[in-house]
Amino acid sequence: MGPGEVPAFPDFEWTLLPENYRYASRHIQKCNWLQALEGGFDAPNLTFLHAGENPDSTSGIVPSFYEVAACAFGFIVSTGRDFGKETISWNLNVRLMPFHKIIATTPHAAHMWDPIDDANTMLYSIDFQPHRPLNETEIARAASDDWIHSENLPNSDIGVRNKRNEYLIDRILQASGKSFTGLKGFGTQDCAIEESMGTLVDRSREHLLPGDAAIIKLRQLLLQALKDHEEGKPIPGGDPQSFRVCSIRYELTCDTNMAQLINTLVKVDIGSAA
Ligand SMILES: [Fe+2]
Repeated sequence: MGPGEVPAFPDFEWTLLPENYRYASRHIQKCNWLQALEGGFDAPNLTFLHAGENPDSTSGIVPSFYEVAACAFGFIVSTGRDFGKETISWNLNVRLMPFHKIIATTPHAAHMWDPIDDANTMLYSIDFQPHRPLNETEIARAASDDWIHSENLPNSDIGVRNKRNEYLIDRILQASGKSFTGLKGFGTQDCAIEESMGTLVDRSREHLLPGDAAIIKLRQLLLQALKDHEEGKPIPGGDPQSFRVCSIRYELTCDTNMAQLINTLVKVDIGSAA
């Protein structure tokens, strides 16, 4: 889009893998793309929104530490949880400009929030294994709708669980304590929260808390990138090779200085599978 040369295609890890190494889906979110994207970097939602019997929601506590850094491909959002051990459990999530996130899970996963217009966003979701094909268990899990993928209405990009049917909320399940929301699937849970606040929320009326530290910093960095672009300065994401990174989790000693280390912890050797 726009004048100038078409930039080279970025080295997204999952795009460089054979087709059977990945599983992809897409569905439309009925909200502004920034609303959806910020939901993807809201660390405390793992503790509440996704809480229950989901295997990846055992974090139990909200993060105590937040460190966000700008870098060549975009931003790194790191959150640290203190479980009272000798280490801090760090979760580093990369945001690749302009709208891409890698998720530090097994298999690895990714989201792309692609704006359609101010009130609609196409969310692409991908599971992938960097070094081998996805196995039957992993494909079944992806297709089950329990994880990030959405089951769509026939011949559409609209989720079966959507705002019009209250995302098929199960109040009995919610009351049982097995699910904080009573909603099935990480993807549906995220979508419900991001859409139900309204398609385009007036952010001047919100009250941010310490748990929003990463979101605040992300907004500052995004506004800075827009300002730099307006002034003709380079912005993150211009170098295709800078995208050779992954999100990752670490147990690090309590005295670790994440601000100093953060840029060295997300590099990945991609392409060994090719
Ligand atoms: Fe989420």
